[in-house]
Amino acid sequence: MALLFYSTSDSASRWKAALATAIPELDVRVWPEIGDAREIRYALVWRPPEGLLASLPNLELVLSLGAGVDHIFADPKLPAVPVARLVDPHMVEAMSEYILLQVMRLHRQDVLYMAQQRRGEWTEHLQPNAGERRVSFLGLGMFGSDAARKLAALGFDVAGWSRTEKHLPGIACFHGADGLDALLARTDVLVCLLPLTPETEGILSAALFARMPRGAAIVNAGRGAHLVEEDLIPALDSGQLSAAVLDVFRTEPLPLTHPFWRHERIVVTPHVAAATNPATASLVVADNIRRARAGEPIRDVVDPARGY
Ligand code: NAP
Ligand code: GLV
Repeated sequence: MALLFYSTSDSASRWKAALATAIPELDVRVWPEIGDAREIRYALVWRPPEGLLASLPNLELVLSLGAGVDHIFADPKLPAVPVARLVDPHMVEAMSEYILLQVMRLHRQDVLYMAQQRRGEWTEHLQPNAGERRVSFLGLGMFGSDAARKLAALGFDVAGWSRTEKHLPGIACFHGADGLDALLARTDVLVCLLPLTPETEGILSAALFARMPRGAAIVNAGRGAHLVEEDLIPALDSGQLSAAVLDVFRTEPLPLTHPFWRHERIVVTPHVAAATNPATASLVVADNIRRARAGEPIRDVVDPARGY
């Protein structure tokens, strides 16, 4: 029973150690040392190269090293086997910490005060109460719903948008194309926690920014391709947006020459909002492999037609 591990990060040794504890009988093969490809039944991957999964003739299950699966569906040669995303409650806690931190920074005008400190400038700005700050989520799934609930508990005026209709206590819920305008019109801080699909790519565009009140801010912790990058700096420079916090980018690592690094009202973090932790995630992966072996239903299989 062999599993192929492929990641663009340097996490292979931590994963090997964690899987050795969580499921000792598993034969973990780290790409490119894959041995006999016919022995591989499972693949645990982050952004696998095109055709790698198709080259495994007895592959039964693809496991994502992340909550998102766009990096797997990007492979046009992806074989027709189930794809499971990673659902680890510790990642949900981590994402909410990140979103709360960044929304708080925007709410308390920290990006502005940090820039003032660099200039040695002492200027006080009016501070709204949390209840006067309207925070909206694009995506009310595993991550969006948890962060939305926690911000509402802190007193913020919270809303969210999803594809299908939702009813979440204390959150104003909007859905579908018709619901988006109403959500944007009541937004001071827009948090993107959507999956990347053909419907959501490029959603953070000049046209969307124009539908929000002047001076709104954005936080993108979904995927880099949600943002039309060339629309961001003009929106900040014109005052339509006041600030942007970005954790994800079309090219990662963000190239050193990219203007986002140096813009005073852009905060850049290196795709760390909810990093996968092998210590806890390996237990989730082990559970799914045991299920597959026992012929039991696999958890968190994604619908390829929806793309998330
Ligand atoms: P999820 O549970 O699948 O939730 C996705 C949400 O987006 C759902 O509410 C869904 O609506 C909504 N949605 C999808 N397509 C839509 C559309 N066309 N219009 C309106 N709403 C739409 O996903 P999740 O686990 O919260 O993860 C979200 C994303 O976070 C991941 O896909 C990944 O890209 C990103 N992520 C980032 C990091 C990081 O460190 N920055 C870490 C992990 C994940 P329904 O509820 O109606 O289905
Ligand atoms: C990270 O971005 C993930 O999808 O888990």
